[in-house]
Amino acid sequence: MSYNFPVTRTTHPKPRPEDETKLGFARFFTDHMFVMEYDEGQGWHDGRIVPHEPFLIEPASAVLHYAQMMFEGMKAYRRPDGKIQLFRPDRNVARMKNTCERMCMPEIPEDLFLAAVTAVVKEDADWIPSAPGTSMYIRPFMFGDEVSFSVLPAKHYKFMIILSPTGSYYAANDGGITTTRIFVEDEYIRAAPGGTGYAKVGGNYGGGMRASEKAMQYDCKDVLWLDAIEHKYVEEIGTSNAFFRINDEVITAPLTSGTILPGITRDSVIQLLKKWGVKVSERKLSIDDVFAASKDGSLQEVFASGTAAVISPIGWLNFKGEDYEVADTKVGPIAQKLYDTLYGIQTGTVEDDMGWTYPLGF
Ligand SMILES: Cc1ncc(COP(=O)(O)O)c(C=O)c1O
Repeated sequence: MSYNFPVTRTTHPKPRPEDETKLGFARFFTDHMFVMEYDEGQGWHDGRIVPHEPFLIEPASAVLHYAQMMFEGMKAYRRPDGKIQLFRPDRNVARMKNTCERMCMPEIPEDLFLAAVTAVVKEDADWIPSAPGTSMYIRPFMFGDEVSFSVLPAKHYKFMIILSPTGSYYAANDGGITTTRIFVEDEYIRAAPGGTGYAKVGGNYGGGMRASEKAMQYDCKDVLWLDAIEHKYVEEIGTSNAFFRINDEVITAPLTSGTILPGITRDSVIQLLKKWGVKVSERKLSIDDVFAASKDGSLQEVFASGTAAVISPIGWLNFKGEDYEVADTKVGPIAQKLYDTLYGIQTGTVEDDMGWTYPLGF
């Protein structure tokens, strides 16, 4: 199906960020956004592009009370020839489908979703940065805005897409990567079996902020979550999946518990490592084994993977105020190769022999 979304252009275009090397993460938003409505019985309708600006919401809207919402995270990249491309957007659609199913929210057909993303990115394409390490973060999100206090799925939803020219989530935006310190959380949990851990919903993050606050006190960039039952096995990091390289085996937590977000970067990392002949395992790994490996020198690398994080190497794991070093605390070779390959494929400087890129045609 082809879609034609009406466009209302802003009469007050914002100044573009002056320095592409100081974009940070989601500090700037572009001039326009996509909005669409859903009504029970009618389906999705009135997709449109409008100026990015505050909008009114009825205070009794369901989302403000019971958090019936979901979001996605993806990026648009500028290739060396100036053309724009996405990275594995079909995986965002598939994950969104699972999230919506879990949250009793209406699915968006793949062609409609991709048409909406393409249209809004095209409208603000001149905001897409090209400095090394930069890209345009795309944040699609949906929420129930039916006026209702009943704890039942809403009958009306809004879907929106906003855009932010962005640098690296963790590191200084010089196009490179550097190691960070991560806080191992053994008191609070992120997600339990049967909960919403595998879905991309705001509540997973709101409930994690107490631990993020603790992490900041220990000068850590983010939280490494342990499993909810034994507080023993490593799961994932605040906004990314976690990989541990011990004795030449790269280990990441399995998705079977339903408590971990199935990262698109995670899947890409696994596929690349397999292609390169690196031993990679999706298996349970206890934090005690990680600490023991740090002490006996067999912990070769730890890194986070995610759309925002790309590949973020970790130099120190902090547990109750004590730092456990990862090898020599410098960026490891596997993390560096993964970053160079992934970011290279995403931005078109490395040939995409995986079929992952999605050129937008402009
Ligand atoms: C909790 C969590 N885990 C993992 C990821 C990584 O997922 P992806 O690689 O699809 O960005 C993210 C980011 O979206 C996240 O928020």
